[in-house]
Amino acid sequence: MNIQFRKDERFRESFSYVNSDAGVLRFPFPFGEDRYMYSVNIEPHTRGGPNPAFAHAFDIDEHYVAECRERALVLADDPGRCQVLPHMMPAQWDTLELLMESFAADYPEHFSLEKNGDTWRWINRPLGIEQTFVFGRPETLPCPPFEYITRQAQGDFTLQDQRDDNLFVDGGMVTTQADWSLDFDIGMSFHEWHGPVPLAHDIGVFDRALRFLLRLQYGHPVRRLNWTMTINPRLDTSPENYPDWGPDRTTVTPDNVSEKVHLRVELQTLFRLPRSNAILFGIRCYLLSLKDIERVEKWRKRLNRVLTTLPPELVEYKGLTRYRDTVLAHLAPRDDGAPLSSGI
Ligand code: HEM
Repeated sequence: MNIQFRKDERFRESFSYVNSDAGVLRFPFPFGEDRYMYSVNIEPHTRGGPNPAFAHAFDIDEHYVAECRERALVLADDPGRCQVLPHMMPAQWDTLELLMESFAADYPEHFSLEKNGDTWRWINRPLGIEQTFVFGRPETLPCPPFEYITRQAQGDFTLQDQRDDNLFVDGGMVTTQADWSLDFDIGMSFHEWHGPVPLAHDIGVFDRALRFLLRLQYGHPVRRLNWTMTINPRLDTSPENYPDWGPDRTTVTPDNVSEKVHLRVELQTLFRLPRSNAILFGIRCYLLSLKDIERVEKWRKRLNRVLTTLPPELVEYKGLTRYRDTVLAHLAPRDDGAPLSSGI
């Protein structure tokens, strides 16, 4: 599979981001029902699921090159978006190994990995990288191993250490986030970093999710979808640069709503790592404009129904308050109310 990369896309200022027709169809639309509420929606991350985006351990698509460039821009402004606590060095190497082996196996025309004992040779053709290094020796790479490999991947990653029957977010590469801060959360436990999420604590979602994750097995990764909405195709909606994007929420009008408003879906994957026993959490972000969502009849009707019935606490938490009514005024006339089959 030879992916045609859209190399010139920009996720800031002039916003030149667009999905091809195939890109629209592989969007992981998150709503299988007309109503949405938080749940422990975790399933095995098996290959060949219902959507091509689930076909590989780590999905790479037409936005790969542009997203890696965007990550480099964010890091140049704020190197603190990548932080790993010192005791997580074995998890850094675990991550590098998992990503390199997965990329090379799943996309052999774009990546290759040759091993000669501990001396590894890595080739990343889309980014023009060739690197020989010694596995386990950080000084043989241009930057620490977790940063090195996650600079070459789409989506954010965090590293969770497991101790005292809990998970602690002790590292991450976070440049593509939906309004949360690694710098603020680093070192927190599972319930602490989920502190701001409304309703889910009360209905036991986080107790159950943590119990499940503490038993996650090596070789049996899992996945879940999460979603929110973003104005403009902006990847970096971090608290650190809120002044750059927060005001965008006030700019949505009936004339521009279908171009400006994007559904933002996170394909979240969780992998137990072999040496460190840490958990790698991948947060792969997909953006699709309302205009493209409308092209799929079931998606536009379902989004209308989900947004109409969304609990007010979630509307507020996801930051939709300022523009949800404008989105609904646009979608409602395009929904005849006929029952939809469950599923995507
Ligand atoms: C939200 C991290 C796993 C459910 C969040 C937030 C963070 C986060 C940073 C934003 C909190 C804020 O507003 O500051 C992580 C990490 C995980 C993880 C590092 C890796 C172990 C899970 C799992 C579930 C889950 C397994 C399953 C139930 C949620 C939900 C939200 C959330 C429901 C609210 C999302 C929204 O409405 O947009 N998570 N999470 N998380 N997380 Fe997790």
